[in-house]
Amino acid sequence: NWSMDDFIDQQIEKIRQTVGDKKVLLGLSGGVDSSVVGVLLHKAIGTQLTSIFVDHGLLRKGEADQVMDSLKGKFGLNIIKVDAQKRFLDKLEGVTDPEKKRKIIGNEFIQVFNDEAQKLDGIDFLAQGTLYTDVIESGTSTAQTIKSHHNVGGLPEDMNFQLIEPLRTLFKDETRELGEKLGMPHDLVWRQPFPGPGLGIRVIGAITEDKLQIVRDSDLILREEIKNAGLEKDIWQYFTVLPGIRSVGVMGDGRTYDYTVGIRAVTSIDGMTADFAKIPWDVLQKISVRIVNEVDHVNRIVYDITSKPPSTIEWE
Ligand code: XMP
Repeated sequence: NWSMDDFIDQQIEKIRQTVGDKKVLLGLSGGVDSSVVGVLLHKAIGTQLTSIFVDHGLLRKGEADQVMDSLKGKFGLNIIKVDAQKRFLDKLEGVTDPEKKRKIIGNEFIQVFNDEAQKLDGIDFLAQGTLYTDVIESGTSTAQTIKSHHNVGGLPEDMNFQLIEPLRTLFKDETRELGEKLGMPHDLVWRQPFPGPGLGIRVIGAITEDKLQIVRDSDLILREEIKNAGLEKDIWQYFTVLPGIRSVGVMGDGRTYDYTVGIRAVTSIDGMTADFAKIPWDVLQKISVRIVNEVDHVNRIVYDITSKPPSTIEWE
């Protein structure tokens, strides 16, 4: 009979045996998966773990601080934070193709990670928060590649690390259960999935700082209102996207010509299939009114009512 307590004990034992007195490096994204790996490894090998947290400038509002406060502050993980916003934005300038954007972000991540890792001595292992779903969707099995997934902590090519992937057999809900068992704070464990390329694939087309700002601000409003409505746990993922469409509106007695923000909210078990969430109209209305009133250059809100398939959860 499979239990999470057994799983933790087995993994800790396995990690200790594999690692011995050597050192492990972890790429932290701020998401549930790598955070759980971080806490699990910290429990198993303590100070033999060093984590690198790359802020690529494509994170949600307040996310970087939350990660540092919680994992470094509360759990005492040794985390090196790299502020690489400019590097990423420079590389992404003018790039519109979704797969190109994904590849650039993934590659740049590896390079920044590599640069930091090279400053460290005597690391033998690289830990990753790979889930069972990632293994399937990245097309390492026979499945066709839908999107080239970037998972923070991708293996630097010219370094001889051995991989440690303790979550490789787990689904998301099991990973969350594991996090709870490890005593991680509720809001960290129940944080919705967030893709490695971050807001970079939620600004559709070319990325600019102004557009990122619109996504960041509208996303925060959406998160607040979903929380106020008590819907957090019913919805697998909810976020805003900026399709780059501008349309005509009227505010006061003046004409506007501004951006449309899309709301995406889905229910799902594992992210492989999904249904659009049936958010009550009054909640949607409140979100819509707040975004238009509080976020500059937005004059229209649309709600994405497609399921996966035929759509995917993210728009790019
Ligand atoms: P899609 O958009 O393919 O997304 O339906 C399925 C789930 O995967 C997340 N996602 C990613 N996760 N790296 C990740 O770690 C990625 O590059 C990536 N792209 C999509 C997405 O948010 C959803 O939960």
